[in-house]
Amino acid sequence: MSILKDKNILLGITAGIAAYKSASLVRLFIKAGANVKVVMTPASKDFVTPLTLSTLSKNEVFSSFVDETDDNQVWNNHVELGLWADLFVIAPATANTLAKMANGVCDNILLATYLSAKCPVYFAPAMDLDMYKHQSTKTSFSKLISFGNKMIPAGTGELASGLVGEGRMAEPETIINFIEKDILDQLPLRGKKVLITAGPTYESLDPVRFIGNHSSGKMGFEIAKASANLGAQVILVTGPTHQSITHDNVDLKPVISAEDMYNEVHNYFLDSDIAILSAAVADYRPKNVADQKIKKKDSTFTIELEKTKDILKSCGEIKDKQFLVGFALETNNELENAKGKLQSKNLDLIVLNSLQDKGAGFGVSTNKVTFITSGNDIVEHELKSKAEVASDLMQQILKQIDA
Ligand code: CTP
Repeated sequence: MSILKDKNILLGITAGIAAYKSASLVRLFIKAGANVKVVMTPASKDFVTPLTLSTLSKNEVFSSFVDETDDNQVWNNHVELGLWADLFVIAPATANTLAKMANGVCDNILLATYLSAKCPVYFAPAMDLDMYKHQSTKTSFSKLISFGNKMIPAGTGELASGLVGEGRMAEPETIINFIEKDILDQLPLRGKKVLITAGPTYESLDPVRFIGNHSSGKMGFEIAKASANLGAQVILVTGPTHQSITHDNVDLKPVISAEDMYNEVHNYFLDSDIAILSAAVADYRPKNVADQKIKKKDSTFTIELEKTKDILKSCGEIKDKQFLVGFALETNNELENAKGKLQSKNLDLIVLNSLQDKGAGFGVSTNKVTFITSGNDIVEHELKSKAEVASDLMQQILKQIDA
């Protein structure tokens, strides 16, 4: 899955012959799962038509401050366009537009949008050899880079003039790869390993029966997704669940019992930077597991249970560099109990779920949590979707590891 999935990409097109490649660029952005809008300089319409670009992007194309097709003359809001964008990519970027951008000139809607945009801006220059080498163009490049814009360098090859050299706009695939790599390199958990547990565990009684619980695994899967989206390499150890995840950065390790989960967690824990143990692990399991299906006989039936290993506690006992997060599901004396678990299991952070809160806990898509840190900070959150809770949790972890 591309990091560009669901991103709002504003593509700016200026008047260079490479504008014909912008159509392919729109297709590649769409293929990567992005939403695309196009803003053009008036002169660029001589090289590629708005109709082609609106068809490919499935969005209206903007090339002037007013909507010329409308008798009422609707103003095209460049500020809104700039705010809509997560990324602004200007490709091709001509010497003329780059010089204007470098000097705050604002005589068309593309330039006005550039001045209003708050998002990262990438530009892919395209011009003839001597224009690319000219000192004034180099000054535009360095000025724009000093403003925080990112330059996607032009390639070398045959140019429209027939000359051979530098100035050819980077190929659409190169532009996409450049942007994807740039975004990935800046993700805060890039290079970090995150270990997550999710779901219930099933403890066998005989070959057909088990003791389990109602955990859906949704919270843990959302945490895995949020961590992976922040660039982490994730190991997700999960008990039996209907949840699914497809993300290049997530390695799924399915297990059944608490013992399996314990072993799998310890295969990865010491090598992790962050461990978030959200699974609803069985605290007890049948002491004896029957080889054959147990037949019904007496009117009552007693199962002797023994304690499972506390996975979270065992991690707390051996942790060195790892940032360790546990969950506490409580029905009474919530804060006190959670603080007790934070200390006794040697955690850096505990996420308290109270079953007294409506909409929190097992089998629902929302959760209401309170974070308690090892520094005794207490951060209460509203009822939110589990995806939002996962995102809040990752922000809390980033705050603590950066501190
Ligand atoms: N946990 C674990 N291994 C276990 C039991 C729990 O790793 N055998 C972890 C859970 O993943 C969770 C945390 O411990 O992060 C708290 O689980 P919880 O059931 O609330 O607490 P317990 O310590 O089991 O205590 P109690 O059930 O008595 O409240």
